[in-house]
Amino acid sequence: MPVRPVLRLGHPTLSQPAKAVAEFNTPQLSALIQDMLDTMAVENGVGLAAPQIGEPLRLIVFGMQDNPRYPDREPVPGTVLINPHIIPIGDEQEGDWEGCLSLPGMRGWVPRHRHIVYTGLDAEGRPIEREASGFHARVVQHEVDHLDGILFPQRMPDMRRFGYEQELAAAADSGTENH
Ligand code: NI
Repeated sequence: MPVRPVLRLGHPTLSQPAKAVAEFNTPQLSALIQDMLDTMAVENGVGLAAPQIGEPLRLIVFGMQDNPRYPDREPVPGTVLINPHIIPIGDEQEGDWEGCLSLPGMRGWVPRHRHIVYTGLDAEGRPIEREASGFHARVVQHEVDHLDGILFPQRMPDMRRFGYEQELAAAADSGTENH
């Protein structure tokens, strides 16, 4: 299955709401899911949303074991999630650095709900319902935002904490950034 090009910030498909998946167990859906998994793996992504490869459908994939882009984060179970919905648990928010395959080389400091419940359907149309916290909850919120045409800079309260990863890392080394 082919690895697909990932659209970058500025492409109109990334800023449009995606449509619900209506048909399950079709060859087209299976092929799309496989393309997304392959693309995410090649790009060392932690998650990918269908609009990022030009398919405006409410479908995300995510998961992480030993990812070199996020060496110090806890593992996230490998998941295909269709027509997802997020319910925050409590009001607690926490900030952390995020990246996105549609903004290669960039990072930003983004507040997210610390605890959530997320629901949706798996590749065969079976229901999924999970509680998640911390990095896992962050990844799901980031990916579901893509389905609503939202990229992480739009969630940032302070654009001074947005930039190229190498510049931010250099600033951290010099003691001007803490994370
Ligand atoms: Ni992203």
